[in-house]
This record gives sequence, structure tokens and C-alpha cells, in this order.
Amino acid sequence: MDVFEAILGRRSIRKFKKEPVSDELIHKIVEAGMWAPSAGNIQSWEVIVVRDDKIKTELSAAAYLRDFVSEAPVIMVLCANKERSGSIYGDRGKDLYCIQDTACATENMLLAAHALGLGACWVGTFDEAVTHDILNLPDFLRPVAVVPVGFPDEKPYPPTRREIGELMHWEKFSKQ
Ligand SMILES: Cc1cc2nc3c(=O)[nH]c(=O)nc-3n(C[C@H](O)[C@H](O)[C@H](O)COP(=O)(O)O)c2cc1C
Repeated sequence: MDVFEAILGRRSIRKFKKEPVSDELIHKIVEAGMWAPSAGNIQSWEVIVVRDDKIKTELSAAAYLRDFVSEAPVIMVLCANKERSGSIYGDRGKDLYCIQDTACATENMLLAAHALGLGACWVGTFDEAVTHDILNLPDFLRPVAVVPVGFPDEKPYPPTRREIGELMHWEKFSKQ
């Protein structure tokens, strides 16, 4: 799949088939995340891959009872590693770079999932402290994105985007 086809064709998927997702596909998705850019190439993120029904139900509850989260065969939780980035870049690493690294990896994974015929959704609305406890995360890991993954059982119409002029400015910022 051409990169523009993947970017334009990817949609947030919130309805999944029960069909399981193989470890091989999960590995491919994570590897796509590993090839995302990261500050100093230190890849300051980790991913927790969850298949266990009990943990999925708990994660769904922590995401304010979004049923589609637990209904996906797999949930991937992307976490920023503040320690890895902070040890090199100090506060900028802890507060910014590790979040950016994680976001880049997450987007690569969403695109890879789509290219592999899977669907996924970046869920950012969740209770961080509860998610932290459920997954037994150490303090230096900050959960950034909860990503249910599975074979899509819907084909959402692409939501509209802003006009390009609202976002893009030549030379200096200018208000429209
Ligand atoms: C940082 C971030 C947080 C998001 N949080 C949620 C969420 O909590 N629940 C949800 O259903 N979708 C969430 N989304 C998905 C967006 O709603 C979706 O990307 C947007 O509506 C555009 O649709 P598309 O992904 O199909 O292009 C989130 C996306 C991002 C990048």
C-alpha cells in the first residue's frame, strides 16, 4: 500500500470482528512503531499488549466504559518512558520528547494496522492513574494511548478536515 493511500484510507475503527489477531501481525505493528522517528533515536516508549479478557474489561472501565475497547481482540497501551528520555534530555525529555516519541510510534502503528487489513483507534480519554495500576506500570512510564486493535467490522465515512488555510501559514503566522 502506497503511503498516501495508507494515510488517507486509515480511519478510527470502533467496531471489531471477534476474529483473533496473530502474534505475527502484532509484531509487524510494533516493528512499524520502532521505525518511527524519536528524539536522539532513543525510542522512549514501551507498549503493553493485552489479550486477557479480565484486563481488557478493566482497561475499558478505565476508559470510561468504552465497550469497543474491551471488544477488540487486542489492546495495545502505548506508554512514554520518562526515565529513558529524561536521563539524556532532562525536563524537556521527560515532559515533551517522550510524549512525542510515543505519539510518532502510535501513528506508525495505526498506519501499519490499516495496511495489514486491521483497524485500530487511538483512545486518549482514560483515567491515567487507574490504567497505571491495572498494568502494573512503574512510575517512570506514563500511559499515553490506549489502542484497541482488531479486524474492522465497520467502514466509517471519513470525517471532514479543516480547510488547509486554517492550519498552514507561509513565512510567518497570520490570522485568517
Ligand atoms: C490524542 C488523541 C486522542 C483520541 N481520543 C479518542 C478517544 O478517547 N475516544 C475515541 O473514540 N477516539 C479518540 N481519538 C480518535 C479521534 O476521534 C479520531 O482520530 C478523529 O475523530 C479523526 O477520525 P479518523 O481517525 O477516522 O480520521 C483520539 C485521537 C487522538 C489523536
